[in-house]
Amino acid sequence: MSQSVPVITIDGPSGVGKGTLAQFLMQKTGFHLLDSGAIYRALAFGTVKENIALDDVAALAALAKTLPVEFIDTSIVYQGEDITSQVRTEAVAGVASTIAVIPEVRAALLARQKAFASLPGLIADGRDMGTVVFPEAEIKLYLTASAEIRAERRVKQLKSQGVSANIDQITRDIEARDERDLNRKTAPLKPADDAIIVDTSSLDINTVCQKALSLVVEKALIT
Ligand code: DC
Repeated sequence: MSQSVPVITIDGPSGVGKGTLAQFLMQKTGFHLLDSGAIYRALAFGTVKENIALDDVAALAALAKTLPVEFIDTSIVYQGEDITSQVRTEAVAGVASTIAVIPEVRAALLARQKAFASLPGLIADGRDMGTVVFPEAEIKLYLTASAEIRAERRVKQLKSQGVSANIDQITRDIEARDERDLNRKTAPLKPADDAIIVDTSSLDINTVCQKALSLVVEKALIT
């Protein structure tokens, strides 16, 4: 009998600290990482590159099925091109959340996401990790924070990268994305029934990381 793979899911809206928490847990556990948002962003990149219309369901699903993206160390590589920084933009995120509402696109990406689960374990970061992709996960975390706080964090992060950012514009982008992610019919952003909800609005990210690590130790996912 094959050994089951422990999975920790981290869901929540953008800018809530999922990526930082996922990296922290990956280092502490030695588990693999699935950044599912990066898959949707790579699909958005491919969609623009191939000039596919955002409502061409058949073409989008076909591209999703054979998406020529690879994750090499910390890089996202599309047909041999390193697109890591290109897919981090708000514009790509907007296209990603637009095409992510299409059920056929989500279905086409499902097997690819599930395939990330291998020993010693997986940290899965996204919107529907605990509800749809890994419903049997051992630990399900759902992070929240207000759109204003997430926008402030995003502006700080962009400034630290030397990129100027307009807080009002970023808040509007975040709210528009929340609206699509929360209200889509297929796999909307919502906590799984058995998820642990962590409101990070007034918590610093180190506290969130330590809380999550204690859960991992409690559940004996690592020794
Ligand atoms: O996590 P992120 O900001 O990189 O994700 C970009 C978009 O991709 C997000 O707005 C919605 C979509 N997405 C999704 O629908 N399901 C996921 N599991 C991950 C991302």
